[in-house]
Amino acid sequence: MKKYRWVVLALVPALLTLLAALWAGLLRMGWRWPVVQRGWVAEHGVLMIPVFFGGLISLERAVALRRRWAWLAPLLHGAAGLVLVLGGRALWAIPLLLGGAMIFVAMFVVIVRQHWAAYTVLMALAVSFLAIGDGLWGLLGWPVYRVVFWWVAFLVLTIAAERLELGRLQRLSRGAQAAFWGATALVVVGLAAPAAGVRLIGAGFVALALWLLRYDVSRKTVRLKGLPRFAALCLLSGYIWLAVGGLWMLAQGAQAAGLAYDGMLHAVLVGFVFSMIFGHAPIIFPSMLGRLAVFHRRLYVPLWGLHASLALRLLGDAFRLPALRRWGGLLGALFIVLFLVLMAVTFREGISWGET
Ligand code: HEM
Repeated sequence: MKKYRWVVLALVPALLTLLAALWAGLLRMGWRWPVVQRGWVAEHGVLMIPVFFGGLISLERAVALRRRWAWLAPLLHGAAGLVLVLGGRALWAIPLLLGGAMIFVAMFVVIVRQHWAAYTVLMALAVSFLAIGDGLWGLLGWPVYRVVFWWVAFLVLTIAAERLELGRLQRLSRGAQAAFWGATALVVVGLAAPAAGVRLIGAGFVALALWLLRYDVSRKTVRLKGLPRFAALCLLSGYIWLAVGGLWMLAQGAQAAGLAYDGMLHAVLVGFVFSMIFGHAPIIFPSMLGRLAVFHRRLYVPLWGLHASLALRLLGDAFRLPALRRWGGLLGALFIVLFLVLMAVTFREGISWGET
């Protein structure tokens, strides 16, 4: 019981950070709404990736690792989020964020030593990219547009590693394994080569997306019913967005701001990353709280809504149609919030995934 209280304690600031980050994204998009202090709006990207996802993913690992000190990682990320939203960036948020990232890296030192496998090593690499991004931003003061792909790579490679873990069960051929590592190497080399880097990372994302579309188990589970089908549809549609984002990066290369920057980033971050969240949440959140997976067909509404609104937004980016982009962004944020509300309702009702 005690453990679940810690999960809730860490989830509350993470969710508040997500809501604040969505609000900040909408303000940056041009919606004229109230804002408590402007610094927070500029931190939309930081709140989203290193703070929210750093906290959420480290929480998931802390639950599994069963070491008390590991809980500090999600708690420090949560504290960093609250401090950033209240405007204390330099003084407190950076040390909190870096402290959280260091503990997250330390967790992976333990995980890799306990279980040496390709997917744990890749996850550890991904988490080190998060920490490097945090350091470049927090200690060296690099602007977000120069750091952002370290953080994006953290998310993409973490998810790819989880799918690789499942792929072990399918006994992948040597050729399939080589293709996976080739795609991953493109991303890593791209991160190390700042000038041409974004194009290389984009090529890596396209290759990873094609690999996942070809080899992921969701190609089989999509033929089942209920939650397995829902999760598989989330994953497969997410892979398509990863390919779209990768192609955009490949075509346009590094950007510092603007429509192409918005399009390439959010194809990956909203389309791919949030589809993965939608697909995994009905299993992961209940399990972190000691319950079985939950599912209801109503979860399809935010899933298809997210895809449709993202398509509007990206069309707005590609064809310079600000109203389309703004409405696509607003609807995207609303569908993310709707998903969280429907998940909470389904969880409260305790509808297990076999019942709908
Ligand atoms: C669905 C609601 C969202 C809206 C309305 C939104 C809006 C925006 C806007 C307007 C920008 C500025 C683009 C530019 O420079 O012109 C931006 C940048 C960014 N967004 Fe989002 N976003 C959303 C979701 C997300 C999500 C889910 C993530 C991460 C998982 C994310 C991460 C980022 C990052 C890292 C940047 C770059 C920030 C910077 O350079 O300072 N966004 N977003």
